[in-house]
Amino acid sequence: MDPRLTSAAEWLRERLPHPPLVGVILGSGLGDFADGVDERVTISYGDIPGFPASAVVGHSGTLVAGTVRGVPTVVLSGRVHFYEGHPMPAVVFPARVLGLLGCRTVIVTNAAGGIDRSFKSGNLMLIDDHINAFGTNPLVGANEEDLGPRFPDMSDAYRKDLRTLALAVAKRQHVPLKHGVYLGLHGPSYETPAEIRAFRTWGAHAVGMSTVPEVIALNQMGVGVLGISCITNMAAGVLKQKLDHKEVLETTQRVKGDFVRLLTALVQALGTGRSGATEDAFRPVARPASRAKVLGKRAKKT
Ligand code: HPA
Repeated sequence: MDPRLTSAAEWLRERLPHPPLVGVILGSGLGDFADGVDERVTISYGDIPGFPASAVVGHSGTLVAGTVRGVPTVVLSGRVHFYEGHPMPAVVFPARVLGLLGCRTVIVTNAAGGIDRSFKSGNLMLIDDHINAFGTNPLVGANEEDLGPRFPDMSDAYRKDLRTLALAVAKRQHVPLKHGVYLGLHGPSYETPAEIRAFRTWGAHAVGMSTVPEVIALNQMGVGVLGISCITNMAAGVLKQKLDHKEVLETTQRVKGDFVRLLTALVQALGTGRSGATEDAFRPVARPASRAKVLGKRAKKT
């Protein structure tokens, strides 16, 4: 395994108040959830050995550890993007550290453009599945057997049992939740109307510039994934107006109440096994033996 990954996980383990059960990755403009973490320890990405730094407006680049409704959680507020010029191993580095810290489930969130014409800006969408249109894959190169298999299965990348749980939690919280397929691509230019028309025929409901690499890396590690997109704008050509990153940030501000409420209830449900989830939602992550060694004491307990 890349020693930078193990050093970052070791370094963090000494500083976190609890071994985390749930990880949350917050997308553009969606950082407010981190403010509600109890017993908070906040660490800048720049202080964590090996962590890449994010420089996008709306991404704070801080790790916040603590509890959410009593559930030990690590929140990554801000992510590094492929379009910033980071190589894929750097893009998935923080997600892999969440896996190494022992998170059994990671909730990935993002801002996305709505391709489905029935969507409105401000809708939240549960990600059923994704299309990788990055033109590359974070697992390209020598396989790190300690992290997982060479050819990970992706047929239940956003686990069905976790999605069932999420829909039940959203209903109980009275948070409207659409669902659909997220198409992830390179960026940073927005798409053309012709591309959006093509992606619609492929079966995509929303489009964005993140998430897919992390979800591939987490699946390789056997970590359960839940994905939530905030539809911050309609994709290019759907409406007459042009696209602007300002609209993305304005929409996240508008929906942050619902978004934070949903995420909080989801973390609680993942931690307590309530909300109609199947037992499967709480099964321990299968860890390769060598990774159990890296995790030390915590791995023995689980
Ligand atoms: N396209 C790509 N990424 C995005 C969009 C979009 O329309 N909105 C927010 N992130």
